[in-house]
Amino acid sequence: MQRRAFVRLVGGGVVLGAVGGLGACSGRLPAEAIAAWQGPGAEPDLRRWILSHAILAPHSHNLQSWLVDLRTPGEMLLRCDPQRLLPETDPFSRQIMMSHGCFLELLDLAARQRGQRAQITLFPEGTYGPDQIDARPVARVRLVAEPTLAPDPLFQQILSRRTNRQVYALERPVPAPAWQALAEAVRPHPLRFGFIGSDQAGAATALQRQREVARQAWRTELVTPRTLLESYRWLRIGASEIARHRDGISITDPMLTALDRLGLFNRQQAPAPDDTAIRTQLKDFDAKIASAPGFVWLVSEGNSRVVQIEAGRAWARVQLAGTALGLAMHPLQQALQEYAEQAQAHAEIHRLLGAERPSHTVQMWARVGHAEPVEPAPRRGLDAQLVRG
Ligand SMILES: Cc1cc2nc3c(=O)[nH]c(=O)nc-3n(C[C@H](O)[C@H](O)[C@H](O)COP(=O)(O)O)c2cc1C
Repeated sequence: MQRRAFVRLVGGGVVLGAVGGLGACSGRLPAEAIAAWQGPGAEPDLRRWILSHAILAPHSHNLQSWLVDLRTPGEMLLRCDPQRLLPETDPFSRQIMMSHGCFLELLDLAARQRGQRAQITLFPEGTYGPDQIDARPVARVRLVAEPTLAPDPLFQQILSRRTNRQVYALERPVPAPAWQALAEAVRPHPLRFGFIGSDQAGAATALQRQREVARQAWRTELVTPRTLLESYRWLRIGASEIARHRDGISITDPMLTALDRLGLFNRQQAPAPDDTAIRTQLKDFDAKIASAPGFVWLVSEGNSRVVQIEAGRAWARVQLAGTALGLAMHPLQQALQEYAEQAQAHAEIHRLLGAERPSHTVQMWARVGHAEPVEPAPRRGLDAQLVRG
């Protein structure tokens, strides 16, 4: 029993490390899970070529909730897969809508690359209410040839962009021109861009406060069983599970994979708040958050569904611009989540980032810096995301 309990604790700690996407993984992902990152190559179909780039967009928990209907010639109808939501941590599907915005931004960049203007009509059958999304489409996209359309250089970064959850190099601040380039990237969309870097005057206190909110919010997610178990549901442990699903949070650590196979990790049961598993994870997170030499954020006026899509589009551009500059980025959405237990962190981060409530919403908050490169995250591949008749 002793040994079993020990194994469970150690295993749990590692699992929790990876749940937060906090990079306790080692080992390589199966080739088929990351094949989409080779790009579409000489794909002859224009819509498929464009969409093969769009599916490389970031998505909360790597859910890839994008479904595309190509049955009407010349049109791409984007829908949201109702099986791929996060009702506990994202009860109003704000992050899901942002993730659809990320998809549309990459779609737009890819279309431009081919001399096509993507005419995007958001919510063509009416917009969702603030509480719930439904079966109506998110966007209808039509392509209009416009040979003089200038390509956007951010397109070149699509295949290289990664979410990086490693420890960052604290001693390497983000250079001033880089902040400028990130701010520029947001410009096409109506979001307020903010940042703080360790070399700015008076930054130490502000950085410290932000780190503290990140820690508190992370702890809340871990000790709230229903939010932790929601993440467990999207864990993919070991090569065969990763290759089968090609979504969610990948764990390739060999020891953990072995423990899971032996049935020593129960994904249906959350550890107690004082469990070693939770403490190990918090320690790991603390080290990562303390290593960040900077933070960025995006604040919107209003929080309608259209605004959430715009926020996602802006975030995709920030990450692509960061990729071009060799910057690592890691979103920290926990404090921005709208469930009761996070109310305090939510209020605090809005206050710290100067987002007036209730008129303004912090849509994205992320740490930024320099880190070792990471592997791409799995993708299901375009065919898995097409609506069939
Ligand atoms: C709206 C949104 C919220 C996200 N929130 C988090 C987060 O809180 N923590 C985290 O580690 N990653 C977060 N991510 C990153 C996703 O987990 C990541 O995009 C996904 O795992 C795919 O990996 P990739 O970005 O490397 O392609 C978020 C991404 C989006 C678009």
